[in-house]
Amino acid sequence: MKKVSLVIAAATCMAVLSMTAHAEFLKPEEARHYRHHGMEFIGDNFKRMGHMVKGEQPYEKEAFIKYASLLKTLAPLPFEAFYKGTEGGDAKDEVFTDPEGFNKAKDKMLVAVDKLATEAQSGDMKKIKIAFGGVGQSCKACHDNYRKDD
Ligand code: HEC
Repeated sequence: MKKVSLVIAAATCMAVLSMTAHAEFLKPEEARHYRHHGMEFIGDNFKRMGHMVKGEQPYEKEAFIKYASLLKTLAPLPFEAFYKGTEGGDAKDEVFTDPEGFNKAKDKMLVAVDKLATEAQSGDMKKIKIAFGGVGQSCKACHDNYRKDD
């Protein structure tokens, strides 16, 4: 019994820590800079995966696995830099007035990215294509609602 409650206490503690782990950037422009470059890095990485998926470049399984795992690492990064007080950049106001919807869109993307990393291991281009398309849709779905048009 004691052990169980200790485990629960530890788990609760970690959950609280992970919720509060995000520290704010010193200045709003530093947060905007961080998320902008994070998104660009995600975009560039996704693009080079696209070159292999579309056959514009020879498909190399090991390289593709590396890109997919990198994408998984990069994908969550920009999101610690979207919070009230950092409005602006290419982010629509809806990011800050509808954090729940924004978070849902983020979670959908993270699930899709996870799936792509799994399919990359299979080396099966048919499956990879579907998963790649799923990620692309998840980016677009969020951009349509939460990113300003260029
Ligand atoms: C949950 C919402 C969301 C998801 C999912 C998302 N983005 Fe973004 N993205 C944004 C927002 C908001 C901006 C504008 C950020 C800013 O400038 O403050 C942005 C900006 C960008 C930019 C331009 C850089 C910039 O800051 O304007 C690129 C490139 C980009 N995203 C690529 C991607 C790719 C590729 C994916 C999918 C793998 C993706 N994004 C998924 C919300 C999202």
